[in-house]
Formats: sequence, C-alpha cells, structure tokens
Amino acid sequence: MTEIKQDISLKQYNTFGIDVSASQFAEIKTIEDLVSIPALKTSPRPDILILGGGSNILFVNDFKGIVIKNCLKGIETVKETETEVWIKAASGEIWNELVEYCVSKNYGGIENLSLIPGTVGAAPMQNIGAYGVELKDVFDSLEAVNLKDFDISTFNFEQCRFGYRESIFKHQLKDQFFINSVTIRLHKFPKINSSYGQIHHLLNKEGITNPNIGDISRIVCQIRRSKLPDPAIIGNAGSFFKNPEITEHQYNELKKSYPEMPGYHNDKGIKVPAAWLIESCGWKGRRIGETGTHLEHALVLVNYGHAKGAEIKALASEIIKSVKDKFDIELNTEVNIV
Ligand code: FAD
Ligand code: EPU
Repeated sequence: MTEIKQDISLKQYNTFGIDVSASQFAEIKTIEDLVSIPALKTSPRPDILILGGGSNILFVNDFKGIVIKNCLKGIETVKETETEVWIKAASGEIWNELVEYCVSKNYGGIENLSLIPGTVGAAPMQNIGAYGVELKDVFDSLEAVNLKDFDISTFNFEQCRFGYRESIFKHQLKDQFFINSVTIRLHKFPKINSSYGQIHHLLNKEGITNPNIGDISRIVCQIRRSKLPDPAIIGNAGSFFKNPEITEHQYNELKKSYPEMPGYHNDKGIKVPAAWLIESCGWKGRRIGETGTHLEHALVLVNYGHAKGAEIKALASEIIKSVKDKFDIELNTEVNIV
C-alpha cells in the first residue's frame, strides 16, 4: 500500500524553493503504487498534482489535494537497427541522467538538451528544448495512465501535438494523464547539431573541428552554467516566460523605434527574446524584497530565499505590464502556476 503523508511542506520539492504545503503527498515507484492510492478512488476526488522535479512550477497557494511525486525508474533499449536505437525511459528518471546514459553509449540526438533539470515524464509536457533541439526531434511515443479509469494508452508523435513549449498535455488533456514512460529514437552514427551560435563559438575557441556528442554535451553544460542560476543556490525555474512570437509586420514596425531588437524567423513569424524585452524595460538584475530577475539573465525570476509564490507572481505581472506598455507585446508564462 502506498504511504500517504499528510500536510507536508513542498519546499524541497520545487526548484523555486517555495514553502507551501500539500494536504496529502504520495511517492510512487510503480504504476501499481499509483493505482493503489485510496484518495484516487473516492468521490468527490481531491485535486491531483503530478510532480516530477518541480523545476517548472510556481506554487502560489497551499495545495489542497494530493501531490503524487513520480519516482518510476528504468531505462531500456526496446528496438535497434544498424543505424538507430529506441530507448524507453520510465518517467521518474532524471532527464539529465538519461542524456548522460545516451551520450556514454554514443547514441546521438539529446546531447543538446544536456543539464535541463527535471524528469523524463515532464519532458513531453512542454516539449523541452534548448540549443537548437526539442524533445519532438527525437520523440517516438509515450505511455500514459488515464487518471479517471487507470487505462494505459500510447500516444504517438501526432497525438502529442507538440509546439514551442507546448503539447496536448498542457491543454485539452491537462491534468488527465500520468505519463509513465517516454520512448525516444536516437542515432548510432550521431549527426552533430552545432548550429547554435554559442556552441559554434566555443568549439572554435577550443580548436575542436570534428566534435563528438560528448563535446557538444560538455559545451552545452558550460554555456548553461555560465548564465543560468543553479536552483540549489538560488531558487528559480529557468525561463519564466516563453519567447513571444510576433508578425513580421509588427517586428518591422518595432525595429523603426528599436533598431537593435533581436528577432529570429520561424514558421509563425518572428520570435523575439523575452529577455531582451524585459531587460529593455529596465528589469534585469532588479530586486524587489525577496524576489527579482537574475543578474545574468533577465528572463529568469528568482527567489532570494524567503519569497512567497504570490510575490513572484506579482513581479511577473508587473513585467508583463511593462513589456505590453512599451512594445505592445504579450508575454506568456512558461512556468506552471499552481
Ligand atoms: P515539474 O516541474 O515537476 O512539472 C511540470 C509540469 O508537468 C506540471 O504541470 C506537472 O504536473 C507536469 N508533470 C510532470 N511530470 C508529469 C508526468 N509524469 N505525467 C503528467 N504530468 C507531469 N526547460 C526547457 O524546455 N529548456 C531549458 O533549457 C530549461 N532550462 C531550465 C533551467 C533551469 C535552471 C530550470 C530550473 C528549469 C529549466 N527548464 C527548461 C524548465 C524545466 O526544467 C522543464 O520544464 C522540465 O521538463 C520540468 O521537469 P520537472 O520534472 O521538474 O517537472
Ligand atoms: N538577452 C538579453 N538579456 C539577457 C539575456 C538574454 O537581452 O539578460 C537576449 C540576447 O539577445 C540573447 C537572447 O536574449 O541572444 C537569447 O538569450 P538565450 O540564448 O539565453 O536564450 P533564451 O531565449 O533566453 C531560450 C530558452 C531556454 C533555453 C535557451 C537555449 C525559452 C523561453 N527559453 O532562452 O530554455 O535553454 O533558449 O536554447 O525559450 C527554459 O525553458 O526554462 C529555458 C531555460
């Protein structure tokens, strides 16, 4: 029988380090542990929050339902050809440990996603991405348990409806499924993706002309450590907002007043770095009480130690307002506010 704890603090379970409590809390190591939680069979049922590493959540209130902490483990090869390999990982595996495992085997495809905090099961939720690669680029399928009837379904690529920091699990299927495993398809003869400017620059600096995936992973870690705060030292959840996508027309109009505004073409128009917009509104490095934006990166909101979730949310609202007033651009949060 799964142990259910009552009224426990979630401070150590979220990378913002917000001290709220959960009415009930259960750690699960298997699907059977999940199914055997009595609260999931009561009527009315309490609210459920599936928790991985808590690295993309801002708690603004105590959670009055049951928090289910995912500790499912296991990595296996499920299919192999001469050139490709399919790796199935249980959703409670630490994402970066999966990356390290694949890099050590020279299975290419996720090395650019090195050092992203959190679990494998959360990776499809927002289609994690960094340095020119997104989960969708290697995604094969996932298995998920329907939290209503505990039926297990397989979702393929199309069914997940991945987009930039998006999937069906953040929208139509929000809070309806527990993702229990993810299968990715990797290359045995890796194709190196060093298109991201900073990777290219550092490879050149080190005189590496023919990088392997270990080099890419190491360099990505180096870049990330240089600009993103370590949640073990200062509470944060990475980028707080998504980078907004605006039309080419709006971008060209804004460029007349702000010629230095960066922008990158994609299929929806122009993606503008939210960090640049926030910095241009004077927010970079500003501290308000126990919260603020990181000194090295304007897009990262931080907890200096004793911030309440509501204070961080209030800061986010002020930032959204400044960016809207100055550029007429709407910022949307990437972080899940609970
Ligand atoms: P949690 O925060 O625990 O959960 C996130 C959401 O997913 C919640 O809604 C939760 O209910 C749901 N969820 C979690 N697991 C499951 C499951 N098994 N089944 C169903 N629902 C589930 N993200 C990027 O994309 N790219 C980056 O480069 C990046 N850099 C970061 C850097 C730092 C320093 C930090 C702190 C965060 C960064 N992030 C980045 C955000 C974060 O790491 C990812 O979103 C990560 O996938 C979250 O994993 P988690 O296990 O911590 O999820
Ligand atoms: N910039 C500023 N001020 C700053 C920081 C950056 O103006 O303080 C500008 C610079 O012009 C820079 C540009 O913003 O060139 C982009 O910055 P960066 O390369 O750091 O990337 P980002 O757009 O801020 C995105 C992801 C990150 C991911 C990196 C690398 C989003 C919301 N964020 O950040 O993901 O690691 O690219 O690919 O798309 C996350 O999702 O939590 C996350 C950290």
